[in-house]
Amino acid sequence: MQKKLTYILAIESSCDDTSVAILKNDKVLANVVANQEIHAQYGGVVPELASRAHQQHIVPVVDQALKLANVDKKDLDAIAFTRGPGLLGSLLVGTSFAKSMALALNIPLIAVNHMQAHILAHFIDDAAQKKPEFPFICLTISGGHTQLIKVNDYFDMQILGETIDDAVGEAFDKSAKILGLEYPGGPLIDKYAQLGNPLAFQFPNPKTENKLDFSFSGLKTSILYFIQKKEKEDVNFSKNNLHDICASIQYTIIQILMERLVSAVKATGIKNIAIAGGVSANSGIRKVLQDAENSYGWNTYIPKFEYTTDNAAMIGIVGYFKFLNGDFDPTSISAKARMKF
Ligand code: KG4
Ligand code: ZN
Repeated sequence: MQKKLTYILAIESSCDDTSVAILKNDKVLANVVANQEIHAQYGGVVPELASRAHQQHIVPVVDQALKLANVDKKDLDAIAFTRGPGLLGSLLVGTSFAKSMALALNIPLIAVNHMQAHILAHFIDDAAQKKPEFPFICLTISGGHTQLIKVNDYFDMQILGETIDDAVGEAFDKSAKILGLEYPGGPLIDKYAQLGNPLAFQFPNPKTENKLDFSFSGLKTSILYFIQKKEKEDVNFSKNNLHDICASIQYTIIQILMERLVSAVKATGIKNIAIAGGVSANSGIRKVLQDAENSYGWNTYIPKFEYTTDNAAMIGIVGYFKFLNGDFDPTSISAKARMKF
């Protein structure tokens, strides 16, 4: 007898992307992401505007995902959604929609932890990415988080280290803002860095008490002071040296991240290393990780580009694993801005 296929509709609305995916087992049939451009003019995400935009996007994005996947609502087996962590107003839109849809279709509801989803995105069945072997270490780097996680199994994860102040994505975005670049500045720093000299300028690598923790607020301040000082001498300094400044910032951030990864490998003896989260889209980080296969003898796992920044496909894969475990949630469940594993 042929095994029944499972169709899951997944919703992600934790920050400023409204995303809906449809999965058939562990394969992605559709993964629609509606970005919110409104935040660029404010230099960062405005929570109130983000929740309003989610309200506007959610119905059309759900419709579009179902159409693209060529799946009918009545064929869905479960609704998965991001419960947290994230902006509460944004999470509430996805949570309320998911609850109503599960109730209307009389199918199970599955709550997903956004950070766990970034990591488990590696298990989406896709020719463009290989699946990590357990146990592995995942460096989860996003706009809101920076964590070193020991992943023993799908739902057995342990935090080895994390940022004590800013997240690495914030370090990219705030540095970009100092340089007058639009939000989110991470992808722009990446773009300009490709044409610059990474050793042109030196920035500090802040030390932390725990060698597996991260700190980025000092770096941001030193970049600010450096730019202010240089612009006193030459008002066009940033403009004229943009490529070299971006390359140097990116190089410093990668050094900080790699130092922690090396310490984590030393501390655990685990050489299976994955990266996840929005900042894992960074071309410099992807290259260094790829090279680490040879230079450090690690097995490295780099997510497919479209599963790096926030997306609902990663929520769907967690939904699928929870579905297989029969791990469902009641419709009384609420969104949570702060959430551990
Ligand atoms: O995972 P994500 O989409 O949202 C959160 O959960 O935070 O991550 C967004 C972060 C932003 O800070 C953005 O600037 C950064 O990921 N980012 C990048 C790149 N693409 C996105 N940072 C550096 N280089 C990139 N190519
Ligand atoms: Zn994220």
